[in-house]
Amino acid sequence: MTSRNPFQYGRELAGAELVDREDELRVVLDTMEQAGRLFMIGPRRHGKTSILHAASEQAEERGIVVLRRDAEAFPTLRQLAESVVAGAADRLAGKISRAGAKLRTFFGALRPEINYNPLDQSFSATITRQPRKQEAMMLTTLLDGLDRMAADSGRKVAVVIDEFQHVLKLQGPGDGLAAERQLRAAIQRHRHVAYVLSGSKIGLLSQMTSDPARPFYRLGSRLFVGPVPRNDFRTFIRTGFESARTNVEEDAITAILDLAEDVPYNVQRLAHSCWNHARAREQSGTLSTTDVNQVLDRLVRRDDPFYTQVWNRLTAVQQRALLALVKTKGVGLFSHATLKRHELPLSSLRSAVQKLTNSGIARPEETMGSIRHRLEDPFFAAWIELFVARN
Ligand SMILES: Nc1ncnc2c1ncn2[C@@H]1O[C@H](COP(=O)(O)OP(=O)(O)O)[C@@H](O)[C@H]1O
Ligand SMILES: [Mg+2]
Repeated sequence: MTSRNPFQYGRELAGAELVDREDELRVVLDTMEQAGRLFMIGPRRHGKTSILHAASEQAEERGIVVLRRDAEAFPTLRQLAESVVAGAADRLAGKISRAGAKLRTFFGALRPEINYNPLDQSFSATITRQPRKQEAMMLTTLLDGLDRMAADSGRKVAVVIDEFQHVLKLQGPGDGLAAERQLRAAIQRHRHVAYVLSGSKIGLLSQMTSDPARPFYRLGSRLFVGPVPRNDFRTFIRTGFESARTNVEEDAITAILDLAEDVPYNVQRLAHSCWNHARAREQSGTLSTTDVNQVLDRLVRRDDPFYTQVWNRLTAVQQRALLALVKTKGVGLFSHATLKRHELPLSSLRSAVQKLTNSGIARPEETMGSIRHRLEDPFFAAWIELFVARN
């Protein structure tokens, strides 16, 4: 009997595959319906892109034109803008023969050139190279044009930018605040386009949207995406194993969730391997906690070259800071006892943790007034325990 592994990771899930997230989906969909503005903020690996994917599909079914782009996929702001212009040509311009003229009407200042490839029926666009300083202007011109084009077409349009903080990074050094201000002014004016801006740099995005001195202050509502509720995940895992006619101990499910620290990507990845492990076994037995630990051990060893590479790129101080983070589980990281045990001065530890955060290895988690530092990939902690901490 061959059946598909029910635990999927490393790709955008569709709505039917998502555990929980009904509320999040509704909020995103409502925003798209009502030409609203929404900031979706949450750590990586928690399903933001999947929520955007699922909401976009549902919105399209309701006739909304969704232009969804991942800012991190574009090396320059101009390429991101070109991709949006091509999307507008494809979805809003009407007849192919008229697309070029239409786009020149709405995006005139960008001098867009449109190409249509009949082989795969795709549009591509080029816009005139701008001096770096005027790139923010380019973005507002683009969005202004899109708003008018949406009005002209009579369609509802939603612009979805994933990993939005990257847009600000692409703008490069210069007056970031001025760029933010222009962008805000444009977004605020628009009546025909919904904006859903999502991002993983939680500190940065929270600050940007909650600081009265920043242009994006209260520009839209905020949606924080946290872990999937444990009980829902538990049911999902149990059902998944039942589909393979494999029994799983309740403690083993707890072990999966604990070892993955409830991070959805890691839960799916570990459950995926456990499922394969259970299916490959000769005599069908019950998946136990021991099995789960064994499977994780194997997973981490298989990824050893990757983790080794990440580890070796760190400075000695960052390595010690990371070790301290793993040993304390990120609680009371800056306490006197920790500093002493790991022989790190407070200032060094602070700046090392900041660098680990910037490079996407660690992330701060603020809950109920206290702060805990976690690894974005909990299995990296398992690798450190296995190969570093023991020495
Ligand atoms: N609601 C969910 N239910 C089940 N698995 C999920 C869920 N959200 C995320 N995942 C798992 O995490 C992986 C990464 O999700 P993704 O949407 O790319 O997260 P993000 O954009 O926050 O980094 C998915 O491929 C899936 O395995
Ligand atoms: Mg994502």
